[in-house]
Amino acid sequence: MSDAKLVYKDKEYPLPVVEGSEGEVAVDVSKLRAQSGLITLDPGYGNTGACQSSICFIDGDEGILRYRGYPIEQIATRARFTEVCYLLIYGKRPNAEELREFRVKLTRHTLIHEDMKKFYEGYPPGAHPMAIMAAMIASLSTFYPDTEESLDLNIIRMLAKVKTLAAFAYKKSVGQPFIYPRNDLSWTGNFLHMMFAVPSEEYVVNPVMEEALNLLLILHADHEQNCSTSTVRMVGSSDANLFASISGGICALWGPRHGGANQSVIEMLDAIQADGGNYRAFLDQVKDGNSKVRLMGFGHRVYKNFDPRAKLLKDAADRIFAQLGAVDPLLELAKRIEEEALRDEYFVKRKLYPNVDFYSGVIYRAMGIPTEMFTVMFVLGRLPGWIAHWMEQRNSDDNRIHRPRQIYTGENLREFEDLGTKHLSTKLGKGR
Ligand code: ACO
Repeated sequence: MSDAKLVYKDKEYPLPVVEGSEGEVAVDVSKLRAQSGLITLDPGYGNTGACQSSICFIDGDEGILRYRGYPIEQIATRARFTEVCYLLIYGKRPNAEELREFRVKLTRHTLIHEDMKKFYEGYPPGAHPMAIMAAMIASLSTFYPDTEESLDLNIIRMLAKVKTLAAFAYKKSVGQPFIYPRNDLSWTGNFLHMMFAVPSEEYVVNPVMEEALNLLLILHADHEQNCSTSTVRMVGSSDANLFASISGGICALWGPRHGGANQSVIEMLDAIQADGGNYRAFLDQVKDGNSKVRLMGFGHRVYKNFDPRAKLLKDAADRIFAQLGAVDPLLELAKRIEEEALRDEYFVKRKLYPNVDFYSGVIYRAMGIPTEMFTVMFVLGRLPGWIAHWMEQRNSDDNRIHRPRQIYTGENLREFEDLGTKHLSTKLGKGR
């Protein structure tokens, strides 16, 4: 492939062009500064390829999403979440024996160390479960050593224990006793059991809930260089351990512009409903350039046609609601808002479509999962993607520490005058 050329101050700099397996092309600027003194400036990294990766392919203009080459539409209807974890992390589909072994390991490592239960006692009743998750996942590194030999097992531990930590965070928030995992249940069934069982009653996992959860987790499993995955890669690039890197990803996911949008969507729909359901007035507010109000669950940095995950979830929502016998005016409201927005010039012009978070919240609600847990559900789904990216980077030949540059816009050199305040007392004066 021929080089690209950059001309600057009458000098020409050849820049190699890299082509991906789906024909995507990139100009390699990694030597640009050494050659010319120039750096590239791309706030928000909207036009920057941070790595080469073989995990996930997205074509945002065509609404395409594939995990390791397999279309999301097929994976979503034909796979279980644990198989998707295997596929993403190990790069191939497991055969029947490999999958069985993998599932046995995931079942055997579901318990958390009893001492970790004490950590939950220290949080105030209203603690957000995402804060608890970030702290708990980082805390796993205090129990399990970060050695080369323990890496395989640490991956299993993380995948197995994350649902226990999440369910315990929920139990803490409602003041109920923790429910221990059962080895006869699937990954998803076990999570539902730990969330919803109470000691005084027998809990039978509802297959409709298990199926719905399986779909939701698969649709969230990976999405290439999004904010949280890039954070995991960024933290991991310093050779931080797996637990610490994933904890960083959880914090990045929490924000309402990213994974926290699923919570914000329900809060937004609730507020519109409480205000008499006047969604048109709300959309007017969104379109008012001065209001800073956004239609949560709409828009995406990469998808400019439709988000295939949102399409799958919208189709699934009616089915899941009917099977669960659930009724929620927010589902109807969401559909009316989508319809209205998709024919409104403001949204059409900016190519704003529903993203994965627009319909996930209403489904979680129908399943009885409280709003504050929605982003934790995203953590459960995205975990295999984060692990796969952390591993890919670690094993790559070009695993340099992530260290972007900047264009400095501050003060030029100036004198730091001595004002004689160096030994100023910090003692409080009388009368204060
Ligand atoms: N509602 C109203 N207007 C929007 C929205 C929205 N949800 N999203 C983007 N826009 C507008 C912006 O105001 C901007 O308009 P302008 O050109 O007149 O200034 C234009 O569309 C482009 O928006 P950007 O902010 O530049 O788009 P960016 O790619 O940086 O942001 C993001 C993408 C963060 C997802 C944005 O669309 C957004 O905030 N959406 C709502 C939050 C959300 O749903 N996040 C979840 C994303 S999916 C995920 O992380 C799982």
